[in-house]
Amino acid sequence: MNMNKLLILTIAAIVQAAPMALAQRNKNKNLALQKTEKAVDMNAFIDDLMGKMTVEEKIGQLNLPTGGEATTGSAVNSDLEAKIKAGQVGGVFSLTTPERVRKTQELAVNHSRLKIPLIFGQDVIHGYKTLFPIPLGLSATWDMELIEKTARIAATEASADGLNWAFSPMVDISRDPRWGRISEGSGEDTYLGSLISAAMVRGLQGHDLAANNTLMACFKHFALYGAAESGRDYNTTDMSLHRMYNEYLPPYKAAVDAGAGSVMMSFNDINGTPATANKWLMQDVLRGQWGFDGLIVTDYTGINELVDHGLGNLQEVSARALEAGIDMDMVGEGFLTTLKKSLDEGKVTQADIDRACRKVLEAKYKLGLFQDPYKYCDEGRAKKEILSKEHLALARQAAAESFVLLKNENNTLPLKKAGTVALIGPLANTGSNMPGTWSVNADLENTQSLLAGMKEVLGTSVNVVHSLGTNLLSDAKYQERATMFGREIPRDNRPEEEIIGEAVNIASNADVIVAALGEASEMSGESSSRTDISIPENQRNLLEALLKTGKPVVLVLFTGRPLVLTWEQEHVPAILNVWFGGTEAAKAITDVLFGDVNPSGKLTATFPQNVGQVPIYYSHKNTGRPLGEGQWFQKFRSNYLDVSNEPLYPFGYGLSYTNFSYGDIQLSKDSFAAGDSITASITVTNTGSKEGKEIVQFYTRDLVGSVTRPVKELKHFEKISLKPGESKTITFNITAEHLKFYNNELQYVAEPGAFKLFVGSSSQDVKEKDFSLL
Ligand code: BGC
Repeated sequence: MNMNKLLILTIAAIVQAAPMALAQRNKNKNLALQKTEKAVDMNAFIDDLMGKMTVEEKIGQLNLPTGGEATTGSAVNSDLEAKIKAGQVGGVFSLTTPERVRKTQELAVNHSRLKIPLIFGQDVIHGYKTLFPIPLGLSATWDMELIEKTARIAATEASADGLNWAFSPMVDISRDPRWGRISEGSGEDTYLGSLISAAMVRGLQGHDLAANNTLMACFKHFALYGAAESGRDYNTTDMSLHRMYNEYLPPYKAAVDAGAGSVMMSFNDINGTPATANKWLMQDVLRGQWGFDGLIVTDYTGINELVDHGLGNLQEVSARALEAGIDMDMVGEGFLTTLKKSLDEGKVTQADIDRACRKVLEAKYKLGLFQDPYKYCDEGRAKKEILSKEHLALARQAAAESFVLLKNENNTLPLKKAGTVALIGPLANTGSNMPGTWSVNADLENTQSLLAGMKEVLGTSVNVVHSLGTNLLSDAKYQERATMFGREIPRDNRPEEEIIGEAVNIASNADVIVAALGEASEMSGESSSRTDISIPENQRNLLEALLKTGKPVVLVLFTGRPLVLTWEQEHVPAILNVWFGGTEAAKAITDVLFGDVNPSGKLTATFPQNVGQVPIYYSHKNTGRPLGEGQWFQKFRSNYLDVSNEPLYPFGYGLSYTNFSYGDIQLSKDSFAAGDSITASITVTNTGSKEGKEIVQFYTRDLVGSVTRPVKELKHFEKISLKPGESKTITFNITAEHLKFYNNELQYVAEPGAFKLFVGSSSQDVKEKDFSLL
């Protein structure tokens, strides 16, 4: 094509596109205008309403008592009905069903002086009645579309059941598997965690917060809750600003950027000030630097706990929390009982009470509650939409995609749909553990156990036999602590050898043994920290006895955290990590074990070789004394005498029933200037005999910086599906934006210099190439 022709065509295209661009611009302008108009409407409405409110009524809006259905502490609230009528309640936490919510809403709307509707919140963490895998499991899918869909379904079901506010997503980065709540987050990585944070907010809030099938998101726990010292829940955190801004804060910010309507402050202290009283965190970072304009709520009794943190008495700490930026007080009633007195004594300002009240009213306005306070109370919807066929189908798919195949020697898996399978272990015949932690609305009695699910899916093709094999934990008291909230595991009080012996007898006559072992669901989650994160000794004894039969053994591992599996990795031929997979877990596990679904999950948290390595994570710093290439011990280098620095399973790791081979990385050039980019591409081929999904991971390393930089950082990934023999070329456009970090002045910059790009199937199994930013 000659240049003139190209020019004419280009001009024609521009002329043609102009009206479209103009229309789009006008549309955007209209949207922006509509937004401002809406804000003007909202402000006028709230000004008017607040003009009519007494101080007591304003303080009442800041109160979030419990409805008592599912709580994590002793419910301190009484006389809910009287308080609602007196205008002393802004919202109710943990009260569900259209009927109960309607009744409670009526108290506010028909009987309180100003008829201000209530908001209704609960922990909707990984599904509502249809439960998806625990968040750590869901993150192992690396599938943002899927994750968003699960949150959309959770919101659809919860809003059909009367709720309009979800205390979710939990976006705390954690690198300490002793901490039980690592199960509730998305693992150790900042970039992946940020993407998931945004996907969850989009799923929960949908396009329209005022629609009757969306929930207001409440990202949590702001901030750094996942960095609790010693992995002990609620413990102190202490961190440099450098680490905070680069590694821990981005997922919270991602939730703000995705438009989350609210945030929950964390229990821990930060730099000596508990988050609930931390003005810097709420006002400088959240409101100031990030421009968050939503609602700030405490965690459960967060204000009262400031007394135990040692900040003063209830009146003093309530005043301090308000002044620091808290808008709403969950459960503790510190605000309700002390703020008026503090105002009279000049210890808080009217302006702070007004600010907090306005934030609560704004949330209600945005949810559309002033227009229709009963919009989430449609019993017909609840019947039709909760646990619908489509929701269950997605739960089964999400569960199967979350499983991580950790080992598969000699293609032990998939199993044949024939012969006899001995399903042994304390986690084989319990349905109530399947949903995992934070599944307060699960129908525990009707959730299938693995045994029931296998029998249903396999029908008569496979003879499934079962034996308990051993107790979950030999210490009965420990087992009691580990099976709370109705999560039952059968217990057998006969001598251990007898129970194991019985299982070995049954297993010896089978073709293959599936051992369902690991943690019960309440061994991870809130207040479930562990110092020994291996499989309990009695379960390992069972495993050893089963291996001695000489039959192939598959370990189906239930866990809410990375476990220490060094012995199992050495001795057991196949290990499938199934987390806690939710309502349809039993069927999904069967799908994967018997090859109807090819596993594709990849770990989002490192599995250590032993607990002494913790915290261990892939994006660590190099140190001034790194190990030499290929070494595992060198004197006067950063390492241990007794174990190598390597993890047992690295971040990004997970096997498939097929094999993928990676070509070499191609770069469009080897250096670029800011404003320009480099295109990296790599070809991945399915060299095995089964169709499968692979998660292709791109990492960079900044080799020289004004501050120390991690040895690898995830920057991009793609999940692809390949048929046997099929290849796909994946490209990634690297820009200076991908290379930015917070320097020690907390400026977000990309520094020119040498970089490495790594591409591969895990954070360890990678190809590499050098490039530089000019
Ligand atoms: C947890 C929060 C939760 C709240 C309400 C607290 O104990 O830390 O994550 O949202 O309880 O259930």
